[in-house]
Amino acid sequence: MRIYRKVGDRVELMALGRDLDLERGEYVLASDGNSTLVLQVIDVEYADVPGTLEETLRDLTSDTLGGLIRYDPMDVESHVRAIRDSRLVITKLRKVIGCPSISLPSRYGTKVRKASPHEIIGTQPRARETLVQIGEEVLIDPRDVEGSVTIITGRKESGKSHLAKLLATSLATIGYVVLVFDLNGEYVSLGVTKDGGQSYVNNRLITLSPGVDYLIPLSKVSQEVLADVMTFALGLPQTSLRELLRACRDARERGRLSFRSLHRVVSTAPMNESVRDAILNRLSTLEASGLFSDEATLDEKLLEALSTEDGRLVVLDMSCLSSLQRRILVEYVLSCLREKLFSGELDPLILFAEEAHLYLRETYWEDVVTRMRHIGISTVLITNQPDSIPALIYRQADNVFAFNLRNGSDIEHLARNLDVDAETLRAILPNLEKGQVLVWGKAFSYLPMTFRVLDSCLLTRGETRRRIVRKEGAATSG
Ligand SMILES: Nc1ncnc2c1ncn2[C@@H]1O[C@H](COP(=O)(O)OP(=O)(O)OP(=O)(O)O)[C@@H](O)[C@H]1O
Ligand SMILES: [Mg+2]
Repeated sequence: MRIYRKVGDRVELMALGRDLDLERGEYVLASDGNSTLVLQVIDVEYADVPGTLEETLRDLTSDTLGGLIRYDPMDVESHVRAIRDSRLVITKLRKVIGCPSISLPSRYGTKVRKASPHEIIGTQPRARETLVQIGEEVLIDPRDVEGSVTIITGRKESGKSHLAKLLATSLATIGYVVLVFDLNGEYVSLGVTKDGGQSYVNNRLITLSPGVDYLIPLSKVSQEVLADVMTFALGLPQTSLRELLRACRDARERGRLSFRSLHRVVSTAPMNESVRDAILNRLSTLEASGLFSDEATLDEKLLEALSTEDGRLVVLDMSCLSSLQRRILVEYVLSCLREKLFSGELDPLILFAEEAHLYLRETYWEDVVTRMRHIGISTVLITNQPDSIPALIYRQADNVFAFNLRNGSDIEHLARNLDVDAETLRAILPNLEKGQVLVWGKAFSYLPMTFRVLDSCLLTRGETRRRIVRKEGAATSG
């Protein structure tokens, strides 16, 4: 390959068709002496060689005449064809190493070669077991995910959850505490491999099904956490909240906090009737949610699971919960985590949230980029609707993994809010195959790149349920 021309940050390379082994999103390095251009392939086109139209037409007519034998005693025909069949590789200049960015390498002396993702990421040399492998040659430093906001987006069935599972299990294996809001109950089987054995994360996995094997002991819920659940999940107004908290204190002083004692105190305490009704209503909804228990001796299983010195993968299976139950649960969990992390009772953790817009309240989004990181919650958001995550989060996101997207407005949404140019996103995102991802961010030296996410031996659920199951690779017609 040779450098042909440069216009702004767009660099065009010439290549012979037969030599070309490049995919969109891959990198090439153009080195001339001490300076190197780091170029990302955006597209490949036919080179505009003068006379091609005429030559092609001549070829066509000779075909129709039964293939004329050309007189070519010097054997130049194959060279001429190679030139006519040459390609224009369109790349974006991402970085210049070793010389002022204004000086250009020579067109003829420059050596152009393909670069591996590993060379581009340039991960600091660390022991391999402390890194997380997500692609064949792609290892990321988990410290770039911790303390960060990470977004995984893409079309339906493009491979988002597959990557999230790989990340979550790998992080738990190397010592991180990971909590998953599992919307579809697809992380619960990660302890088992596809062939039925125990997976590498088996001894670190704890799954909790709220309302079934995990009940929240009401007596252990603090005033602040109860206030958050009542206000944000059940919409209790501030005036009523004050009365409720007073009733809680009374109930605790008289013995212990239970739904029955709370009902009794609220029903008998002097207060405005509409306030009383509002509180009793919310208390009934909370009790009917089936997520809480009056049992005083019950342990708080979630907090127990998260309090560990070792790595742990805690999955909250929300697949059987209604949307109201989900909102109550998530409000409780987040409020509780905030309290315990703030007081130092819990160590920092990484939260994986699938389709978070279905259960997170509006104001939480600001918390994600402002307060959450500081108290020790790193967030990984996974969605197939890029515009369900507010622009604010994209602008502050530290890492973005974008799988295949075909919808123009989804691509434009990313283009408006990410630090990756629109031309790159438009060229690469619609052409990604299942499992292929375009990444950008702290874990990748802020250079956009594409690669295929590793397959895994884990048993994963979450496939689309179908009446007629089509075998992979089976012919669709004929
Ligand atoms: N890199 C990969 N290697 C092997 N299989 C993969 C890969 N990525 C995805 N798959 C498989 O493709 C299927 C769909 O993947 P996945 O569940 O991750 O999609 P998704 O983007 O989360 O879809 P949805 O939006 O429906 O949740 C799964 O069966 C998964 O195992
Ligand atoms: Mg999914």
